Amino acid sequence: MILFKHVHELKNYIASERLAGRKIGFVPTMGALHQGHLALIETCRENGNLSICSIFVNPTQFNDPKDFQKYPVTIEKDIYLLEKKGTDILFLPSKEEIYPGGTTGLRHYELGFLETILEGKFRPGHFQGVCQVMDQLLRIVEPDHLYMGQKDYQQCMVVKKLLQIIGLKTVFHACPTVRESDGLAMSSRNTRLNESERINAVTIFKTLSYLKKNIRQGDLSGLLNNAKNLLIEKDFKVDYVEIADAETLETVNEWNGKQNVVALIAAFLHEVRLIDNMLLHP
Ligand code: PAJ
Repeated sequence: MILFKHVHELKNYIASERLAGRKIGFVPTMGALHQGHLALIETCRENGNLSICSIFVNPTQFNDPKDFQKYPVTIEKDIYLLEKKGTDILFLPSKEEIYPGGTTGLRHYELGFLETILEGKFRPGHFQGVCQVMDQLLRIVEPDHLYMGQKDYQQCMVVKKLLQIIGLKTVFHACPTVRESDGLAMSSRNTRLNESERINAVTIFKTLSYLKKNIRQGDLSGLLNNAKNLLIEKDFKVDYVEIADAETLETVNEWNGKQNVVALIAAFLHEVRLIDNMLLHP
């Protein structure tokens, strides 16, 4: 694996590989890597790309400064894991490399409805930050293929929209959520859970499974209320439990039994905010 810290060196290397006929595959991350991230690298490699992973904890996407300060950093372990997976390139830029002009006055992206709901509503400015960093990274790497996780369902939709806005022809791949053996979605934030919180954290997965098992045609308010209570009983502070159209993310209150729908949850266990989702149709 080659480690690049500077944009111009990375760009030169990518240009030479492209000239030699390689397709460029990209997996952007914020580090504290786990099997979910590594599965993206694996898919990227299996598809025959030159595999590029970036690690950059992007300050502009944290609406809560405490969350940014407490974001886990495990760079040595990350490098070891990426090497072991056979990653070709790690891009590890500084803040100055990504934002040479600083982080004030960055571009605003017209995300419309997508930014007004769910994560957009509860984390104001978050998706602008995701677009700001992804815009920079995508212009540097110019990948043929981009691999991201369905774990961040709405983020996938935002980044697909960003690709349209900035006019890149990159092919977007949404990859399945990798889970712990009890069902908890892997997340860098899980390392911040203490022992009892870790046991309770699986309730998010159990609640999504409950929704999948019990959804019936008609009014969904009773079902959603029960789901919320499952979380509250286990000490969660719920931001949202929603069922939405799987393509548009518009809320579905009455289900016609046919529409493709996804259940999405965001909830705090004390200090730690967890998100997860599940497609409800077979
Ligand atoms: P991060 O949370 O590090 O996630 C990097 C990528 O890994 C994202 O595409 C995310 O959806 C995916 N991922 C996380 N957990 C996963 C799991 N359990 N299974 C499968 N994929 C998983 O998402 C970000 O970083 C940032 O917002 C970023 C896109 C890098 C921009 O800063």
